[in-house]
Amino acid sequence: MRIACIQFAPVHKSVDENRERAVSLCEDADADLIVLPELFSTGYFFIERGDLLPHSEGIADGESMRMLQAVADDSGAAIVTGFAERDGDRLYNSAAIIRPNKPRDVYRKSHLFYREKDVFMAGDTGFRVFDCQDRKGEEYRLGVMICFDWYFPEATRALALAGADVIAHPSNLVRKDCPRSMPIRALENHVFTATANRTGAETVGDETLTFIGQSLICDPGGEVLASAGKDEETIVYADIDPASARDRQITATNDLFGDRRPELYSALH
Ligand code: ACM
Repeated sequence: MRIACIQFAPVHKSVDENRERAVSLCEDADADLIVLPELFSTGYFFIERGDLLPHSEGIADGESMRMLQAVADDSGAAIVTGFAERDGDRLYNSAAIIRPNKPRDVYRKSHLFYREKDVFMAGDTGFRVFDCQDRKGEEYRLGVMICFDWYFPEATRALALAGADVIAHPSNLVRKDCPRSMPIRALENHVFTATANRTGAETVGDETLTFIGQSLICDPGGEVLASAGKDEETIVYADIDPASARDRQITATNDLFGDRRPELYSALH
């Protein structure tokens, strides 16, 4: 199957423009799994909930959701995108899991970064894995996490233990460390990872956040299969065999998950 990570610069609060751009990029991407950045339709930097609320949308009835669902239905691609989710009067920094001709699912970001804590509720979905099919009908299991979740190795581990072959990772990275950490997350869990980051900068008051690009796709051996530059708007692709993530035998006597010693990890709780 082919993975595409779309890297572009959403324009702050220009929701219609961002939607049109994302749909057009998704239509260009010839892939089984397409990953878009975090908060793709609204932009990222909000410090007041009331400023973002009018631009948020529901997973079931949101306009971005409807538009991307149409792309998924037409192309056969699964699309994972970050978006500002409104549920009643709650706001979540969420990822939509949009599969062709299926009800949409959602993952709500578990580890909120910086001023996100002033705007969003902490995610309550936990780490979920979704059954998917590529365009040839081959099955794979898709885990989802969002941006800063990468900083917590438990997130990737939880997804891998839940059976993910591939982890989609919509992002708006501002810290420089993620591109060198994701190959390790992939290696230590023996999964494919697909990080779709954004470019550009956003300013609120006297503070500017600059997004670092460098979207990347990693394989279960920790190799970088594809990566983007810091500033370019681009789509990076990798052709992968998701089944190759399932054999976690390290040596004749070592299995990555079989050799775990959870009874010794009680400090993790
Ligand atoms: C981030 O979690 N958007 C840095």
